[in-house]
Amino acid sequence: MSELRLPKAGTVEVCPSILSADFAQLADELAQVRAAGVKMVHIDVMDGHFVPNITIGPPVIAKLRKHSDLVFDGHLMISEPEEYAERFVEAGVNNLTFHIEVAKQPEKLIEKLHSWGCTAGITLNPGTPVEAIKDVAPLCDMVLVMTVEPGFGGQSFMQDAAKKIIKVREIVGPGIRVEVDGGIDAQTTPIVVGYGADTLVAGNAIFGQADRIAAIEALRAAAKR
Ligand code: DX5
Ligand code: ZN
Repeated sequence: MSELRLPKAGTVEVCPSILSADFAQLADELAQVRAAGVKMVHIDVMDGHFVPNITIGPPVIAKLRKHSDLVFDGHLMISEPEEYAERFVEAGVNNLTFHIEVAKQPEKLIEKLHSWGCTAGITLNPGTPVEAIKDVAPLCDMVLVMTVEPGFGGQSFMQDAAKKIIKVREIVGPGIRVEVDGGIDAQTTPIVVGYGADTLVAGNAIFGQADRIAAIEALRAAAKR
């Protein structure tokens, strides 16, 4: 069991999404963002069923685990999170977020994740109302608000979906991380931080840039605006 934990809520953390990284150089990509002082990286898992794209699974994460001491923040975009969660924890994720739209027994999965030494996140698509997560959110360590339809990097930020952050923050209070994912860049960062997000997933805005360190610093500066 890993000692790596989500940073405590209360600080703004930039969380690079490796979806936009060079998959042939993942260990090196992680080292580059670590050099910028990030504490966590976001790993998007897609099954070609819940979302119309396929990415990586436990074997790749297990190999990466040997090359990095960053917190691995797994985002399961798969139809059967209950079926596969344990394999991702065994592979080395430290936080695992699953979608409310497909969870059969979310409370039970959160409990299991905790018993396996992994923190738990719940997430919702842009079209899913906050009411859907209100009972389980307080049991979680993080709530992820999607600001694009999940499946691809580099899409445009959906401001109406981002507004749900305000309600999520009201429900969970200050002690839980509220993460936002999709279209986060230096323009959208001040908006979501203003709504109450403290964990900023960014793929294209970091790995789409030649200088990843400068890109991360630009996001941090934007969070202070
Ligand atoms: C989309 C993924 C995101 C993706 C975000 O389904 O969940 O994590 O990497 O990419 P950007 O930051 O490029 O919008
Ligand atoms: Zn994601």
